[in-house]
Order: sequence, then C-alpha cells, then structure tokens
Amino acid sequence: MMACSLRRRGTALAMLLAFAAASCAAPAAKEHAAAPAMPPAAARSVAMPAGSADFQSLVNEAYAKFKDVRDGKNADYIPILTTVPSELFGVVIATRDGHLYTAGDVDYRFSIQSVSKPFTAALVMQQYGGPQVIVDKIGVEPTGLPFNSKMAIELYKARSVNPMVNAGALAAVSLVKASSEKDRWQKILANLEGFSGEPKLPVLEKVYDSEYQTAFGNRGIANLLFNYERLYAQPEEVLRVYTRQCSVGVNAKDLAIMGATLANGGVNPKTGKRMLDETSVPELLAIMQTAGFYDESGLWATQAGLPSKTGVGGGIVSVVPGKFAIAAFSPRLNEAGNSVRAQKAIRYIAGKLGVGIFGPNPE
Ligand code: DON
Repeated sequence: MMACSLRRRGTALAMLLAFAAASCAAPAAKEHAAAPAMPPAAARSVAMPAGSADFQSLVNEAYAKFKDVRDGKNADYIPILTTVPSELFGVVIATRDGHLYTAGDVDYRFSIQSVSKPFTAALVMQQYGGPQVIVDKIGVEPTGLPFNSKMAIELYKARSVNPMVNAGALAAVSLVKASSEKDRWQKILANLEGFSGEPKLPVLEKVYDSEYQTAFGNRGIANLLFNYERLYAQPEEVLRVYTRQCSVGVNAKDLAIMGATLANGGVNPKTGKRMLDETSVPELLAIMQTAGFYDESGLWATQAGLPSKTGVGGGIVSVVPGKFAIAAFSPRLNEAGNSVRAQKAIRYIAGKLGVGIFGPNPE
C-alpha cells in the first residue's frame, strides 16, 4: 500500500519535472551553452586529430608560440655546448607509420646526450632476452636526484639505480655484450642508427673531446660502480664508449623516429626493422616515465603525462604509446638540465591532443 502510494507520488513528481523541463527548455539550453559540461571520459580520451593537417598545424603552433622564449641557458659543464646557437628550435611529430610533421630547425645535428640512454638500455634488453637484466644488474627506481648524482650511488643499495641517470647508463654500456671496446661501440652506434632509421649517424668529435677531457665526475661514478661490482667492464673503457654514445649527432627528426619506434611496439616505422621486442616496450617506457626527467620526473608526469627522455644537448623525445612520438630541440636548459622550449612545445602538443597516458591534461 505504502509502496504503491509512493510510486504514485513518484509518477506525479516525474510528470511535474517533465512539464517544468519542457517549459524551461530554451533558457536551460542557454545556461548550458555558457558553461559546457565535461564530455564523457571516452569522448575526451579520443581527442586525436582528424588528419595530418591537424598534426602539422599543431607543430606549427607550438613552434610559433614558444620560439621567442629566452629562458634557461646552454649546458656549460661540457664546454663546447656553450657554442651551440641558443636560438635553434625545432619541433617534430612522427607517427607510428613513419609520417613526419615538422617546424623550425629540425635538420640541425646536435649531440644526443642522455636521450641515447633508453635506447642502449633497449639494446641490453634485447641481448639478454628481456628487461629482467635491467632490474637485476642496474635497477629501475627513480632517484629523485640530478642525473649526475654521486650521492644516489651511496644512498641506494642498487647503486646504479636506473638506466636513465649517468650511473645506470654507464652500467648499461658495460652490460652490452661485446668482444672488444671497438665492438662495444659499434653495437651501440648500430643500435642508435637502427632506432633512428639513419644508416650513418655521425659522432660529433669536438663534443666527444670536450666531454671526455672534462669527464671527472663520470669517471668518479664509473670507478665507484666498479668498486661496488655494479659496473661490468673496465671503467675507463666504459667511460670512453659512454661519452662517445652521448656525442652522436642527431636532429629532431631522428629523435622523433626513435620515439616512434617505441610507439610502434619496437619496430622502426621507416625501415620496418624490429629494434626491441614488443613485450619489453612497456618496461622501457615505464622507466622513461619514472626517471626520464631525473628529479623533475614527477613534475613532467603531471604536465605532459608521457614517457620521455631529455638530454643536455637540448633534445627531448616523448612517446604516446601505440600512436606517435613528439620530439623537440632547443639548447637552453633549466636548472635540472632539461630544455625549456622543448618541454613547452611537447607539453603544449600533448595537452592540445589530450594524449597524456594518465588522461587528457589540457594546459
Ligand atoms: O654524462 C653526461 O653528463 C652527459 N653526457 C649526458 C647528461 C645528460 O644529457 C643529462 N640530461 N638531461
């Protein structure tokens, strides 16, 4: 009885509401137009551009919006890097099928520096049959400390900590299976070429000389790791090969294709060559996400939400898994050693497209 009267009262209320809605329909619609409701999550997460024109116009926009930013300064602890023209700025999107959308100085070759690190980690994964070797012999925890931290080696039991910081990257070089120093270097270079799809990447010899002559910090790190049995080849050899790896000359298009190879499940979209097993890609991207920006990895995760790697040469590459990569180059860096304009450009594009892996994150 009670339930029945409630139901009847409910029906009456529904009719009243329907009437009110009908008579207020026009003003209500206007109010909604002034303050649009959030679209459902599914609609937001597919905010992909309709076609290539959208990618191109976004890259153009990012370039135009940030080209006059003058914040930051060139790296100077590697003396030659102060001579790279600071105003250079290039932005590229490379899709997983190899299409490139470019703006600015995308052909200028700069030193790859730390952007090389995830790719040598990938080579190690390939040689040892998967990512477990990185977990066991290097580590996968973020340090929360600068890329060249010696304190991290003492703080953490893993010593090398992760392959994105200098210690872990030196350890990765030492793990590359090789018969000699020359062979170690050739394997690392061939791997970077394979990821970029460029048959011959140059070594910027002046950058190599400048860095090797001043590599007292990295030599200290290599020796400490060797002392703790977390470096797996002779320290000076590892230092030379690592420094040479950081001196490889790339342009923003090369970096974008390297990222697109990861976006494409480990197969280079330009050459069709498999560079990393598909099953290892998520692990590598996870390490890039948590440690690719060193002590700014958390901040970058909140901003762009994309697995990324930076280098003191001014390059950054970010991966939108399964879709595309965004690369940018600009030599002026912030305090943490990350390119100011490259970050802004990537963050802008990722925000506009709503492709952050944690959800769309518009600026
Ligand atoms: O070992 C170094 O200090 C440099 N060759 C690489 C450091 C680097 O790129 C840090 N990244 N932002």
